[in-house]
Amino acid sequence: MKVGTTRNREEVPFLKVTNLTKQFGGVRAVDTVSFDLNKGEILGVIGPNGSGKTTLVNLITGFVKPDAGKVFYQGKDITGMMPHRIADLGIARAFQMVKPFYQLPAFKNLIIPLFSPRVKRLAGGKYGDRDAIAIDLLEEVGFERDSFVPFKMASVLPHGYLKRMELALCLALRPELIILDELFSGLSMAEVASMLPIIEKLMSENLTIIMIEHRLRELFRISNRVIVLNYGKKIAEGLPKEVMESEEVKKAYLGSETE
Ligand SMILES: Nc1ncnc2c1ncn2[C@@H]1O[C@H](COP(=O)(O)OP(=O)(O)OP(=O)(O)O)[C@@H](O)[C@H]1O
Ligand SMILES: [Mg+2]
Repeated sequence: MKVGTTRNREEVPFLKVTNLTKQFGGVRAVDTVSFDLNKGEILGVIGPNGSGKTTLVNLITGFVKPDAGKVFYQGKDITGMMPHRIADLGIARAFQMVKPFYQLPAFKNLIIPLFSPRVKRLAGGKYGDRDAIAIDLLEEVGFERDSFVPFKMASVLPHGYLKRMELALCLALRPELIILDELFSGLSMAEVASMLPIIEKLMSENLTIIMIEHRLRELFRISNRVIVLNYGKKIAEGLPKEVMESEEVKKAYLGSETE
């Protein structure tokens, strides 16, 4: 197991979330959640259904505005910024529910991030051959180029490919932080096993990752640290092993989830 990177106390955390709170009617979806994330770290986020994981992602990425609390990215206050501006800073997210352009071929689905100002900037002011870049990205996440899968309509692709495409959409942005909201949901054990090396490769490239997962075995294999949400509150944080030994976590999480 990889242990979290040690860093100087004075250093600004890569991502800092403080007291983030969001209420929907009578439901406190996210309740005073705080955590830090270091560059190159992979943070697992777990919790029962409805515990606030997706809302936390929405708050960090600007899709939902917090009622209270702050999000700092590389020292910059990004709280309440528009999603496209947050993406432009290099934070990409994979959605729990995939919503591709079904009437476009898979590789054309990557066109939006590949047209982004960030990508142009990082490529020195010109976009390059976006179709070729898209096909390379899809190959990177496991599309077989030779079987013409990248050229198939998204509407005919199995769920496993759409989840891979979701990851490719993130990578197309050339992000520094990626937030994966249940990337493995709906995948078979074999499909998850084939995706793990892709995530491990991203880790070796020093990408910073927040990974929300119900698939605990796989998540714990790759996470440096895990936080646990329950009813919107962070109830535990630590190494995967430490977290799973917590009585509160067992009661809240394993009491309702069996893996
Ligand atoms: N837009 C919304 N309007 C009203 N309530 C919402 C909204 N989004 C989320 N909620 C509520 O907030 C709570 C947290 O939901 P959220 O989707 O963040 O949980 P989750 O941990 O991602 O769940 P899951 O594991 O099922 O994906 C739930 O009670 C949910 O019904
Ligand atoms: Mg969710």
